[in-house]
Amino acid sequence: MEISLLLEAVYQKYGYDFRQYSEAHIRRRIMNRMVMSGLENVSQLQAKVLSDEAFASKLLQDLSITVTEMFRDPSFYRSLKENVIPILKTYPFIKIWHAGCATGEEAYSMAILMQEEGLYERTTIYATDFNQQALNKAKEGIFSNGMIKEYTTNYQLSGGKESFSSYYTSNYDNVIMNQSLKKNIVWANHNLVTDSVFAEAHLILCRNVLIYFDKNLQNKVQKLFYNSLINGGILCLGSKESLRFTDLYDEYTDVDNKQRIFKKKY
Ligand SMILES: C[S@@+](CC[C@H](N)C(=O)[O-])C[C@H]1O[C@@H](n2cnc3c(N)ncnc32)[C@H](O)[C@@H]1O
Repeated sequence: MEISLLLEAVYQKYGYDFRQYSEAHIRRRIMNRMVMSGLENVSQLQAKVLSDEAFASKLLQDLSITVTEMFRDPSFYRSLKENVIPILKTYPFIKIWHAGCATGEEAYSMAILMQEEGLYERTTIYATDFNQQALNKAKEGIFSNGMIKEYTTNYQLSGGKESFSSYYTSNYDNVIMNQSLKKNIVWANHNLVTDSVFAEAHLILCRNVLIYFDKNLQNKVQKLFYNSLINGGILCLGSKESLRFTDLYDEYTDVDNKQRIFKKKY
């Protein structure tokens, strides 16, 4: 009950709606913040959230898990190339929506893939998240050198055609992604719970986001995706997410069920 009151207060005061997030996720993150801040119970945390905006902003960061990678799940990218790129090639222009893009690694991976397929010039990638800090980092396109070995392996396993190092320049401990990758990416703040349909998309990727939502919210967000996709458009979810138990299951056909790739029926 204390947690529901806290989430209601966060929504009323700051407009962020976590009321239908998965209980286990919310409970874990709130308990963690309570312990780290030396608070004794959720009521104390609520009082602090309401009176201290900097503290509230920390809690919002806690509730948004931004773990991501370039070419995360390489077999997913191989399936995209084999099963989705041929469909995208038939369109004169291509709109892709990455919903919940975190710090942008997924959108840069897509830009690389589209460049290698000769499609980037006619592609716009809309990369959205409700976490402005993560979006700012995404926009910069500067990533830690420490991750590059793993990203290079992912890229190669995804069937990358070039040398991965041709997509960035190294700068001390970081790498800076090439300007040519950024030019057709539009970064935008968008909240999947409270904002509306985003664009007439040919391809929507929302991977590893819905796992944090309860069943009702998953259904609501699936409706948003359905209404944002053109007929015959493609929806990609994360490896632990499924359309199967949602209201819209019958409105899609499987492109690759194992890789969670679905096609909206005409
Ligand atoms: C684990 S990351 C997934 C990143 C990327 N899609 C991937 O699979 O690597 C989850 C992202 O979802 C975002 N997110 C959570 N709730 C959201 C909401 N209501 N609206 C928009 N983004 C949200 C978080 O801020 C976070 O950046």
